[in-house]
Amino acid sequence: MKKVLWIMSLLLLPLTMNIQAAGYSIELESANNDLRDQASLQRGAVLFSNYCMACHSLKYMRYNRVARDLGWSDDAVVTEMAHGLSTVTENVMTRMEDGVALEVLGTKVPDLSLMARLKGDDYIYTFLRSYHQNEQGEWDNKVLKGTAMPHVLEGIERHATPDEYAQAARDITNFLAYAGEPSKLERLDLGWKVIAFLLVLLVLLYLLKKEYWRDIKH
Ligand code: HEC
Repeated sequence: MKKVLWIMSLLLLPLTMNIQAAGYSIELESANNDLRDQASLQRGAVLFSNYCMACHSLKYMRYNRVARDLGWSDDAVVTEMAHGLSTVTENVMTRMEDGVALEVLGTKVPDLSLMARLKGDDYIYTFLRSYHQNEQGEWDNKVLKGTAMPHVLEGIERHATPDEYAQAARDITNFLAYAGEPSKLERLDLGWKVIAFLLVLLVLLYLLKKEYWRDIKH
């Protein structure tokens, strides 16, 4: 018995370590985004297109895949996200020309395809909500101090209520979480089907067992 407990606690160890591994200077807020909320994903995609694609790409993502997963037609995704400038078979690429970022912002702009996988949903959500003006009146970010990324959502933050701003950040985070792992949508869906199947199987097998043992004295 002791041995089993030892093995079990060893198996659980990575879980407990994961929670502590983040180690950012400020506490991350919980994004509370939901990949099954299709309206949120669609809003996030439109916000991403309008506020982030001036600089960022999702180079592993194609428009037609986004359309299929988010419940848009091919035409709709081109209108909503690409403003008619790309075709559905193209990848979701920034509208910025090569090299401009280095000139204007003094750094390269990271691709965001896998950013949610790399840093976590809560990180992105908190990052988008952590811009503030320092004593000199310049924008800085509490999560990524001295960041080269401007406060691109300043307009929304200023005009929206805190709840609306939180929702906008949550929608963008949700869309980036989806982009990081598109197949997760299918897995979430499949998981329930598998569990339902196993439950039905359990009942059937139980009935079968009863049937087999019915005439046997035991
Ligand atoms: C004007 C160009 C520009 C726009 C527009 C922009 N970003 Fe960025 N972004 C950058 C740059 C530059 C960096 C690298 C920042 C750094 O290393 O300091 C960055 C980095 C990031 C990071 C990574 C932060 C990290 O910890 O490394 C995330 C996440 C991000 N951006 C999300 C977004 C989202 C979401 C939007 C739209 C709401 C957006 N960005 C719009 C330029 C931009």
